[in-house]
Amino acid sequence: MTLEASASLLEIRGLSKSFPGVKALEGVDFTVRRGEVHALMGENGAGKSTLIKVLTGVYPRDGGTFRLDGVAIAPRSTKDAESVGISTVYQEVNLIPHLSVAENICLGRQPMRWGMIDWRAMARRAEAALARVDLKLDVHQPLASHSIAIQQLTALARALDVEAKLLILDEPTSSLDAKEVEELFQVLRKLRAQGMGIVIVTHFLDQVYAIADRITVLRDGRLVGEYETAKLPRVELVSRMVGRELTKMKAVERGTEAARHAPAPEVLLELRQFGRPGSIAPLDLTVGQGEVVGLAGLLGSGRTETARIIFGIDRARSGEMWLGGKKTAFRSPRHAIQEGLAFTPENRKVEGVIPHLSVRENIILALQARAGLLRPISRKRQGEIADEFIKLLGISTPGPEQAVMNLSGGNQQKVLLARWLAMQPRLLILDEPTRGIDVGAKAEIEKLVQSLREKGMAILFISSELEEVVRGCQRVVVLRDRAKVGELAGDAISEEAILHTIAGSSHAR
Ligand SMILES: Nc1ncnc2c1ncn2[C@@H]1O[C@H](COP(=O)(O)OP(=O)(O)OP(=O)(O)O)[C@@H](O)[C@H]1O
Ligand SMILES: [Mg+2]
Repeated sequence: MTLEASASLLEIRGLSKSFPGVKALEGVDFTVRRGEVHALMGENGAGKSTLIKVLTGVYPRDGGTFRLDGVAIAPRSTKDAESVGISTVYQEVNLIPHLSVAENICLGRQPMRWGMIDWRAMARRAEAALARVDLKLDVHQPLASHSIAIQQLTALARALDVEAKLLILDEPTSSLDAKEVEELFQVLRKLRAQGMGIVIVTHFLDQVYAIADRITVLRDGRLVGEYETAKLPRVELVSRMVGRELTKMKAVERGTEAARHAPAPEVLLELRQFGRPGSIAPLDLTVGQGEVVGLAGLLGSGRTETARIIFGIDRARSGEMWLGGKKTAFRSPRHAIQEGLAFTPENRKVEGVIPHLSVRENIILALQARAGLLRPISRKRQGEIADEFIKLLGISTPGPEQAVMNLSGGNQQKVLLARWLAMQPRLLILDEPTRGIDVGAKAEIEKLVQSLREKGMAILFISSELEEVVRGCQRVVVLRDRAKVGELAGDAISEEAILHTIAGSSHAR
């Protein structure tokens, strides 16, 4: 072993991996040092998750070598990878909801005593692992009884339960709010100081600059380069990821400027003291035709809950809802869909795509449901619709017949969006439509929302990314602790004003 070889913790050389019709990785080099946080960046479908899955033995590789601590390794399963010191939290939380927290943390490596599972030892071990992520839970409760954020931290605790040298996190923060992200980063900083090498995949640039020491960029399965975060300005990073200039984003910005001063639109949706105890306090809200209204607030502030009672998933207990001048109350989502509403839910894993169906089938699903099962949409028409949206949203797939589960996470998200856009709804509710979507696609989606607005669609836009809200909305309703606490319009909309309203601090604008 040369000195050179031992300088880094992980060395990947010449890694290649193909799937039928897709070269996911081509001759990629990737190096992680001890005691660093290394961000792996790239657009949707760039190959980030594939690199991680090949390294950890989920998929076999076509070519290339791995060295950990200077020693050649070839894990054939995640368990193999764990045994050599590589622990991973995957993009899709792969825990088992109905098992307890303790069982999930120790899954596959339960402590045994007299040939049986030692439940007390297991609980102790789980508690110790949770303590490393600064979490205190009743480890006997089923995992599903906790929020997605807690489940994510449990997945991290599980990863730390083994003696890891290298910790890999694939989009760990996409379901966490700002405070939870900071808590996670505290944990990562602690682990880094202990000499652990940490790989993080995220689409949030702020987070990369907050935590990562170095950055490796992939594009279309190839290595673009390796950089020190401090020496790589954001615009540089973004243009390396997308491989082109970012003029499109600017066009969106200018478009909104004009829209913001347009005359008041005709009201399509009006809520009057509409609410549901425990979900959202009675609130007033309107969305006009050709208007994008933002719903801003922290995670858990009642944004999704508001969308759910509008869409008829949960029943409102107070107030009235008017749609197009008619008093309405939806008994079910089906009823809402019939009336021309569409809702893209935020959690794509739970409520979203159907993994085994093709891209085409996933896209036409809601459309077919509305048409009724007795009036099937012709196969030819289905194909046309699928092709149209694959093009419109830039869904990267070898074709419409590919199973959705084989698409990258961000592209699955786009399929979900296509499903609802295909319905040409009167009112579109978008809940975090750009979560897990790369910068290029984000700009595309922002542009798309604006063009839908121009065609007269009413849009309720839920997003944690204030920048997006400020850029894209004509009005913003702010929620805090499951109640409406303010509304901003036109020039009064700024990140600062929204933040102050969320925080409840007096802010003279
Ligand atoms: N099991 C699979 N079968 C077929 N193709 C796959 C499979 N897994 C990934 N791919 C393809 O390989 C490419 C890389 O996907 P990967 O999931 O690694 O992207 P990613 O960089 O993680 O993207 P995202 O940011 O959207 O999560 C994509 O074109 C994807 O469709
Ligand atoms: Mg991925």
